[in-house]
This record gives sequence, structure tokens and C-alpha cells, in this order.
Amino acid sequence: MAEILKIVDLHVATTDGKEILRGVNLEIKRGEVHALMGPNGSGKSTLGYAIMGHPGYEVTKGTITLNGLDVLSMDPSQRARAGIFLAFQRPMSIPGVKMADFLRHAATNVRRPDRKEGEDLIPMREFRKELNEKMVQLRMDKEFARRYVNDGFSGGEMKRAEILQLAMLRPKFAILDETDSGLDVDAVRVASQSIADIGGKEMGILIITHHEHLLEHNRPDFTHVILGGRIVETGGPELAVELHKQGYDRIRAAHPMAAAAEAAMQDREAVATH
Ligand SMILES: Nc1ncnc2c1ncn2[C@@H]1O[C@H](COP(=O)(O)OP(=O)(O)OP(=O)(O)O)[C@@H](O)[C@H]1O
Ligand SMILES: [Mg+2]
Repeated sequence: MAEILKIVDLHVATTDGKEILRGVNLEIKRGEVHALMGPNGSGKSTLGYAIMGHPGYEVTKGTITLNGLDVLSMDPSQRARAGIFLAFQRPMSIPGVKMADFLRHAATNVRRPDRKEGEDLIPMREFRKELNEKMVQLRMDKEFARRYVNDGFSGGEMKRAEILQLAMLRPKFAILDETDSGLDVDAVRVASQSIADIGGKEMGILIITHHEHLLEHNRPDFTHVILGGRIVETGGPELAVELHKQGYDRIRAAHPMAAAAEAAMQDREAVATH
């Protein structure tokens, strides 16, 4: 049976009560590539956070399950061990923690779900070998692993660090939130190819993007359009191309209710910032 990440009628608000997602339905099977596109502020990152269990967001209605297991009852580390991964749109830096140590802990936790606090990590030699191989594959400088996590990294370096995590953790389901933003043309190509190499048929991938470049080597089986906190259209790869070329005017005209919700969200922003 195909493994599946299933989201049904998901409603999400910030912990201070601001409603963002209003009934998202989405099914991702392992091995599939899904693209999620939508205007700024439509709820894409919020969906990623809700799937991963970010404490700043509250699921007010609906379900998320992984092969039938209730994801919403798991804390973020249990979700990671269950095989879910989120590459952040804006990764955090962790000064004082080296990339290599961070990755060794993360990989150990994910690969040995029953490991108790204080038990051994993946043996250093084995881990180093694997890390070096992955860094060569991703054309990353070895020096990277010795630096503190994202500390002083350029925008592009942070995104590559996220892909390195993806490569080391090999999740069942990965959400990549604008992993192409800030990358130069060559780096996007490497990223796109790397994601395809890492993912292959092994992963279900949700690629959140405003561009088509990351999709070059990861042709989406499905493209979803989110507007005002709802997925309003789902199509094939051609939909991603259309949106990239023509923007969201047609979508807004075809879905006036969602467009109204989007406008209301933006008004709320405007009130909050004045
Ligand atoms: N913690 C929060 N507190 C207040 N508002 C929030 C919070 N998180 C998200 N929002 C608001 O919810 C809306 C959706 O945000 P989200 O980051 O999910 O959008 P997005 O689709 O990822 O946009 P972008 O394409 O710009 O990354 C925005 O109006 C945003 O300001
Ligand atoms: Mg976002």
C-alpha cells in the first residue's frame, strides 16, 4: 500500500487567534512531487508549519495523518522521526552549534527512533564519510560542516544547508519552503538536481515556490494553488508554468470567495501595522 500524508479540512490560526488556513485538503503519496504555489501571504508557509507542529500555530479543525497515524498528536521531534521534514523559508541560526554536530544528532534521532537520551550517536567515522559524500554531491565546501548552523551564512548558503539536511535525514515526506529563494541560477540548478537525486521515488515532496526553476528536475505530478488560506485549484505541471507566466489574476477571478478572504487578510495586516 502506498504511504500517504493526508490533510483533511485543515483550519489553522495563529496562537493569538488570527485565522490563516480555512479548510485545506491535500494528499501526498510517497514518490509523488507536488508543487504549491500562491500569492504572498496566502498561507503556504503556515501549512508547512502546521504539518511540522510549529508551536506558534494552532490547528482549530481538521486532521493530518501519516499512513493513518494521527500527526497532530505528535510533537515536532516525533513528526521528524515519523519521516516528515520541513526545509524552512527562513532558516534559523544556532551560534555555538556546528553544522556537523547538529546533523549527527538530527540524523541519529531520526534513524534510531527508540534511542534514549544519552545513548550513542551514529559512529563518528561512519557519519563523517556519509556527510563528506553528500557535501561533494551538493558541491559544498567542506569548511561548511565546521561552521555554526546558519551563523553568518549567506541566503544561498542557508538554502544549501537545508538541502544537506534533507540529504542526511532522508525523510519519507519533505516540505521545501522556497528552497530556491536567494540561490543564483547555477545554484538553483544544482539544488533542483540534488532534490531529484535525493528524493527519487523514495520521497513525497511538497515544493513551495514562486518560480519554475526548482521544478525543472522535479516535474510536479500535481500543482496546487492556494489563495486566501484554501487550495482553490489543482492541476498538472502545466498549471505551474501558467502561474509563473501569467500570475494569479485568472485564479482570483475564478474564485471570488477565496479572493475576498485574501483581501480581508491583507486589510487585517494593514490595520495591524498602522
Ligand atoms: N505568527 C504569525 N502572526 C501573525 N500573522 C501571521 C503569523 N504567521 C503568518 N501570519 C500571516 O498569515 C498570512 C499567511 O502567511 P504565510 O507565511 O503562511 O504566507 P505565504 O503564503 O508563505 O507567503 P510568502 O509567499 O510571502 O512566503 C500572512 O498574512 C501572514 O502575515
Ligand atoms: Mg512563505
